[in-house]
Amino acid sequence: MAVERTLSIIKPDGVKKGVIGNILNRFETAGLKLVAMKLVQLSKKEAEGFYAVHSDKGFFDELTTFMSSGPVVISVLEGESAIAKNRELMGATNPKDADPGTIRADYSEYVGENTVHGSDAPDTARTEIAYFFAETELVN
Ligand code: CMP
Repeated sequence: MAVERTLSIIKPDGVKKGVIGNILNRFETAGLKLVAMKLVQLSKKEAEGFYAVHSDKGFFDELTTFMSSGPVVISVLEGESAIAKNRELMGATNPKDADPGTIRADYSEYVGENTVHGSDAPDTARTEIAYFFAETELVN
């Protein structure tokens, strides 16, 4: 197992529901360490840039409108197998398919508002972290 870094976003629905602390607690309890964090409201353009890989999808406008609709908490998590561990804590993308006890099973209404985002592989983690954080903002 390798120590990895992954990007996490608590989406506007999670912030609105007041579950930031609960979600961060799940990360820390699972052994994931915060190495960077910020609370920001994304512009539509920033959301479009972040999700550019989905620009050809029918849900792109809905997704980027939602992601820029309110504040989000963006963080970098570090730990052994951090990418897989975070995805396990989040549960399936569609909350209907998410295992009981996962973040999305507990808090998400539907796939379009699924409370959290997490990088899906090492190369996307690197790109996504660099999209939001300068190297100097990551704590060693
Ligand atoms: P996320 O892990 O942030 O990565 C891409 C996002 O697209 C995904 O979570 C969902 O929130 C969103 N998404 C995927 N499929 C759909 C869909 N059918 N309708 C609306 N949003 C979707």
